[in-house]
Amino acid sequence: MQICRDLPSLRAATAALRADGQRLAIVPTMGALHDGHLALVAAARAAGADAVSASIFVNPLQFNANEDLSRYPRDEAGDLAKLKAAGCDLVWMPPVEAMYPPGSATVIEVGGPSAGWEGDARPGHFRGVATVCCKLFQQSQAEIAAFGEKDWQQLQVVTRMVADLDIPIRILPVATVREADGLAMSSRNRFLSAEERATAPVLLRVMTAAATAIAGGAAVAAALDDGLARLRAAGFEPDYLALVEAETLKPLTARRADGPMRLVAAARLGTVRLLDNIPVG
Ligand code: PAF
Repeated sequence: MQICRDLPSLRAATAALRADGQRLAIVPTMGALHDGHLALVAAARAAGADAVSASIFVNPLQFNANEDLSRYPRDEAGDLAKLKAAGCDLVWMPPVEAMYPPGSATVIEVGGPSAGWEGDARPGHFRGVATVCCKLFQQSQAEIAAFGEKDWQQLQVVTRMVADLDIPIRILPVATVREADGLAMSSRNRFLSAEERATAPVLLRVMTAAATAIAGGAAVAAALDDGLARLRAAGFEPDYLALVEAETLKPLTARRADGPMRLVAAARLGTVRLLDNIPVG
């Protein structure tokens, strides 16, 4: 497994991996890897990639002033060992100055699915995500990019950007990987206390009940209000629990018949903000 920390060595390594028409995939990450990330490596391979690269870059552009960039977990040695064991061929670990050299002045602003939900909770977040993903796609010259469905809105934002900017890369959505009790895997889970960790799976249980009720014909507002009340009763501080159009993230007040729907949620347990989403119907 090659490790590249500057652009010239990345270019040389990707050119070698792409020789003879070999297909290269990229798995963008911010490190602190768990089984959800490793599933992305496996999914990229299963989708036909001959070689898989992963990036580890804690992107300052997607953290706003209220979020603690320095608190983001980092484990370089552990991450590299996991990627090697997962069969990753190349790891791109640029320093911040390589990604954003002095004088950098270009950002990518995606409309549509960036609006609302995480876009409201974390102003500027999707600008940072879109900008770094666009750069990672250019830098890696990959043909496939694997993204977890766990961050559903991010997946839709990146998919929209690739379509709008005619970027020749296929976005590969990969199902959320969950712990045995249903909690979606996330780098943030390590910050849950033992008590919070025991409560955390309630989020999926409440969402599943709401999705089942809506799919079964219950009024959307009543099902969502009931879900919010149950989350509060369990000790969560919910930011939102909403039914949305799956691709645009536009809120729905009634079931739609013309396309897929998703239930999206963000709720705080202590200091940890948990995100999850599931299909409806
Ligand atoms: O999902 C993440 O870890 C990040 O948002 C991503 C896609 C690697 C961009 O920094």
